[in-house]
Amino acid sequence: MDDQPLSGAALLQRFRALDRLLSEYQGLWRPLPFTQHHLPWESAHPELARWLRSRSLEQAEADHHQPHLLPAPPPWPEVARRCDVLSRIGELPQHPRPTPPARLALDVPGRKWQQIQAFAASLQFRHAPQHWLDWCAGKGHLGRLLAHEGTALTCLEHDPQLVEEGLRLSQRLGLTAQHLQQDVLAADALERLAPRHTPVALHACGDLHVRLMQLATRAGCRQLAIAPCCYNRIATDSYQSLSAAAQASTLQLSQQDLALPLRETVTASARVRRQRDLSMARRLAFDLLQRQLRGIDDYLPTPSLPPAWLDKSLARYCQDLAALKGLPAPDAATDWPRLEAQGWRRLAEVRNLELLRALFRRPLELWLLLDRALYLQEQGFAVRLGRFCPRQLSPRNLLLLAEHP
Ligand SMILES: C[S@@+](CC[C@H](N)C(=O)[O-])C[C@H]1O[C@@H](n2cnc3c(N)ncnc32)[C@H](O)[C@@H]1O
Repeated sequence: MDDQPLSGAALLQRFRALDRLLSEYQGLWRPLPFTQHHLPWESAHPELARWLRSRSLEQAEADHHQPHLLPAPPPWPEVARRCDVLSRIGELPQHPRPTPPARLALDVPGRKWQQIQAFAASLQFRHAPQHWLDWCAGKGHLGRLLAHEGTALTCLEHDPQLVEEGLRLSQRLGLTAQHLQQDVLAADALERLAPRHTPVALHACGDLHVRLMQLATRAGCRQLAIAPCCYNRIATDSYQSLSAAAQASTLQLSQQDLALPLRETVTASARVRRQRDLSMARRLAFDLLQRQLRGIDDYLPTPSLPPAWLDKSLARYCQDLAALKGLPAPDAATDWPRLEAQGWRRLAEVRNLELLRALFRRPLELWLLLDRALYLQEQGFAVRLGRFCPRQLSPRNLLLLAEHP
């Protein structure tokens, strides 16, 4: 399969192939190692389960970004190969842009600046945009980069502080941009869109970018560009398919399933990783304990806890969390060092078992993007889907370009 952006008939073709893959293997990617001590697929593939469970936390960490290369027992090689082939998607052609004035980048964090530059360089429409509409704009950094040479710009954002900050930045640069406070999910959001607008949305979460596709279609916009993120941030319990092809699929996706593509993270600092691992090892140790305390061999959800909880001893942590959940106090004779070691062991197993789910992160993300692409195609747009920046810059690096032919 060519490493090209997808367009035309290839969109539906790839969607169907991914739909078959995800449906066939749902027993492998749906179950969560963090909450389930024994995963249903382990009975069918005991050798693979043993192999993954015997590995260390460091090994899991090292393979986080390339699980398809693991030399694991069957059915891994075949599953990994199929996932890898169907995950491939080419980079959108980058169009050289005039170097923006350095002062534009002044208030933009480094990685965000690189993302918006890559996003801007990937835009190419048959008709030159007359008026950019930055959707869920934050401070409007993307809009400013696109419009700094004089094209009109409107930024829509819900958070009044970001609206104010955005306006201040635009004024300082002498740009006549409008920064409007708008809840894009509200009924009056449609009034903000007009046929002359070219909407752009960088990392607008779940419902927010879906809303843009629906409203831009109704308002008669001729072209738009969307790089989605946070597919699980939706108001409904399960995913509402957009295109006819996805509506005909038997796949039902819960919010938990929709979080799978977000599990690929950019490499965090050693300190952040240590904190994250400690927090998870603690939770897993508590999970072992709470099963004994309740006499029920089942996961018990716990709230997110302030970071200061990690400064407590494991004993105090578990006692306080048990009290918070209304459970009986742990036995005074509890062997805390042993429980601590078990928590870390469980964490290594969970992380390695997660690598199997990781094979499906990108296939599921592409399935979701293709549902959006096919929906826009049904609305009469010609659509291109491809990468706009390297994954190291952002794992959410897929961009949908749509324009009326
Ligand atoms: C992940 S940020 C992306 C911001 C910007 N596009 C960027 O790439 O830097 C998502 C933005 O959506 C805004 N937002 C969240 N809910 C919204 C809503 N209902 N209406 C408008 N904006 C919203 C948030 O305040 C936030 O600024």
